[in-house]
Amino acid sequence: MPARATSLDLPWLAMDEPAFAADPFPHFAAARAQHPWLARSPFGYVINDYAAIRDFFRMEERLDNGYDSVVALMKAKGTAWGRFQESHMLSANGAAHKRVRDILAPAFTPRQANAHRGLMREVIAGLLDEWAPKRAFDFEEFASWFPITVMCRLLGASPEAIPALRDSLEALGLSTAMDPSLLPRLDAATEIADAYCHQLMADRRAGKRLSEEQDLLDMLLAAQDAGGLSDRELADILIFLFVAGYDTSKNILTLIMYELIGRPEMHARCAADIDYCRKVIDENFRYRSTAAAIRVAGEEIVYRDVAIEPGAMLWFPINVIGRDPRACDDPDRFDPDRPRQFSPIPFSLGAHICLGQYIARAQIEEGLHLMTQRMVNMRSPGPLAWRPFGGVWGIRGLPVEFEVA
Ligand code: HEM
Repeated sequence: MPARATSLDLPWLAMDEPAFAADPFPHFAAARAQHPWLARSPFGYVINDYAAIRDFFRMEERLDNGYDSVVALMKAKGTAWGRFQESHMLSANGAAHKRVRDILAPAFTPRQANAHRGLMREVIAGLLDEWAPKRAFDFEEFASWFPITVMCRLLGASPEAIPALRDSLEALGLSTAMDPSLLPRLDAATEIADAYCHQLMADRRAGKRLSEEQDLLDMLLAAQDAGGLSDRELADILIFLFVAGYDTSKNILTLIMYELIGRPEMHARCAADIDYCRKVIDENFRYRSTAAAIRVAGEEIVYRDVAIEPGAMLWFPINVIGRDPRACDDPDRFDPDRPRQFSPIPFSLGAHICLGQYIARAQIEEGLHLMTQRMVNMRSPGPLAWRPFGGVWGIRGLPVEFEVA
């Protein structure tokens, strides 16, 4: 007879507290000492074991996506933000999800991502030309312009709207922070992003374009013409693409630079060798990544003799689970040259595995390679603060100083 999770004396992870976000690792380790794979948190159960997370993703058909629960928790039903959370592709399941994923998939293959490397290099070089002469700035802010500019270029969108859109994406990165006081900001941000995406579609339909080259927006509009998508769905896809690629890529770049500061030999190797950048990125995905995954138990789930009740929120901390000592030797050492015994899962697993993972990897590789070439001897007093652990986690403000190479 399995034990009911509700009656177990499980460890508590205070994931909503700033001190937790600043250093979650001792808390996860202490929780594992009390229970090998399950903990409780303000956001539901936490699966605190790398192997167990993989097992849960194998039972995906028994899990629902958690965004309706997030909207309910935020008391946001009927708001612009609530509507978007309940309708974006990460909320959709089964055939409805597959339909959208199949439309997008051809534009997100490894080959397509590699074809965009020249554009990515151009964007980062332009940003470095503008920012590097300052020789001191907030690295997080600098990094934030990179993914949003790349996404605008992929969609053939004018760069003029980037500052306003960037503010919205900053807010929307806090969507899973489960803090109802953020709702007015989230709502306003959704409305700005929505108006922007509708305008983008209307302009292109009216023949306004920056270049004659076919781009991602042309492909999506063609899918719409083929009867695949409504205006509402297309706008939601566009908003989601901006949101999904923004905070995640920016936070990863900032976390990587944080690790390279004080390790000049790694910094120099990244500047010299893009293959080494790949190793650093992979090690960073294991060591400390940004997004977690959430689901809801669609039915009772019995796992390792514990019964989890239907409707329970499940939190998969894929952003920190690379430190699980049962999955990786000496997990607290940052070592890009470590033998590849561990497969990081920062992009999640299963049907919703990050569609943009190849674009994300390509832009982080190209960004890291060029940034380390142009900015050397980087110093920092450390992060100003950490972003809420429940949102797209990462560093909030990383002041840096450096010399221009
Ligand atoms: C380092 C950067 C990134 C990380 C760590 C990341 C992480 C994730 C994760 C964890 C999920 C799935 C969550 C789940 O299973 O619930 C996801 C989904 C998704 N991501 Fe990313 N992402 C990144 C960059 C990007 C970029 C650059 C794009 C777009 C160009 C993108 C587009 C998407 C999309 C469309 C989905 C939804 C897939 C679906 O529901 O089928 N991501 N991402």
